[in-house]
Amino acid sequence: MASLTITPGRPLKGTIRVPGDKSVTHRAIILTALAEGLSQVTDYCRGEDCLNTMRAFQSLGVRIEETPEQLTVHGKGMWGLTEPFGPIDCGNSGTGIRLMAGLLAGQDFFTVLTGDESIRRRPMGRVVKPLRAMGATIAGRKGGELAPLAITGTRLKGMSYVSPVASAQIKSSLLFAALYADGLTTISEPRLSRDHTERMFAYFGIPFHRDGCTVRIEGRPSIRWSGKTVVVPGDLSAAAFFLVGASIVPDSDVTVLSVGMNPTRTGLLDILRQMGAHIEVLNSREEAGEPVADLRVRSMPLRGVQIGPEQIPQTIDEFPILCVAAAVAEGETVITGAEELRVKESDRIATMATELRAMGARIEERPDGMVIQGLGRKGANGTLTGATCASYGDHRVAMSVAIGALTAAQPTQIQNTDCIETSFPNFDRKLLELLTDSVKRL
Ligand code: S3P
Repeated sequence: MASLTITPGRPLKGTIRVPGDKSVTHRAIILTALAEGLSQVTDYCRGEDCLNTMRAFQSLGVRIEETPEQLTVHGKGMWGLTEPFGPIDCGNSGTGIRLMAGLLAGQDFFTVLTGDESIRRRPMGRVVKPLRAMGATIAGRKGGELAPLAITGTRLKGMSYVSPVASAQIKSSLLFAALYADGLTTISEPRLSRDHTERMFAYFGIPFHRDGCTVRIEGRPSIRWSGKTVVVPGDLSAAAFFLVGASIVPDSDVTVLSVGMNPTRTGLLDILRQMGAHIEVLNSREEAGEPVADLRVRSMPLRGVQIGPEQIPQTIDEFPILCVAAAVAEGETVITGAEELRVKESDRIATMATELRAMGARIEERPDGMVIQGLGRKGANGTLTGATCASYGDHRVAMSVAIGALTAAQPTQIQNTDCIETSFPNFDRKLLELLTDSVKRL
């Protein structure tokens, strides 16, 4: 099992790119597979999560050629998928398994979706129940609450669903099911979750209607969409580690190129700015229906903030790294309404509190969030304390602890860091690039 040792004491300096957006890559693979003819997906995320989705579609009969820069997808059309020979392994990916559950529920064949130990612990009832209400036949452990899921494809009917959680995985799962259902499907959520599926539907010309937090879609559309080129923006959730790193490590100056700036994802930038961070948004543009920009961050002492339920959906994947920012900020940070963090790749409230406490942070866990008493920047002697830390198999926990370790007084070892591969291959190399760059320029 791999581990990562971080030796603190140097600033982060330089210009980098981060992997393609994981959420956009999943959706690009799905929609290009259902398109008529050839598509290219460039700058895609080569993390294991997305590669598992790619392999899933290959096993569903779609020819996909892969180079490090681009996927060439030979779309089979909306009705062209075929029954796979064996179970589909979604690995660690909640997005992969939930989106595919919706899509496969309306096919005319049988599939089994499974994944790793973490996926088999995560709640699937949140998609299985509404899909069953559309007529889906899905079996699973604990009555369908847990994967593996066995899906006997059937003809679905549209429905109206009010989701109790703002979740793009639930919304997107139902949108893919709704494409194959008879009649109208209406999906409402309490707050707007990331809207990549809707944007990609629009990019491919698939009709739907959105009004605030409600999406309506007429199933079995008569249109057929053609293959296209999808340029995937850099993942803001991957850039997040360097944005926070550059903010909290003195004398840092980092530019991350081509980062996705979808407003349903940019909560971290708003919160960091509120904390006093110095972030410049440069060269704003649009790629395949998604806003993109370059981000330059210079270090700045941060202060604590209050983060409430209305800020959670657009920041959902950035809480592990935000905890690090709060732990070294001046003053108190209070996070409320974030109970969804407990059902991610790990229970991120518990895992981040435990690991940062091991590094000397002052954190109180609450059922729906945490209270963090920031230590304040301590200068050359470091703010946190070096420690031996666990990743819990959670990529974002591993990378967050690594960034926190840059502010520690001693080296930190993070164990079991293979999980970083799920979203950010070569994270350690990128980090080293920025640290080496700082050495070259000093
Ligand atoms: C994702 C949605 C989010 C996020 C996940 C990716 C997506 O999950 O945490 O990493 O691509 O739809 P929820 O929608 O369940 O909050």
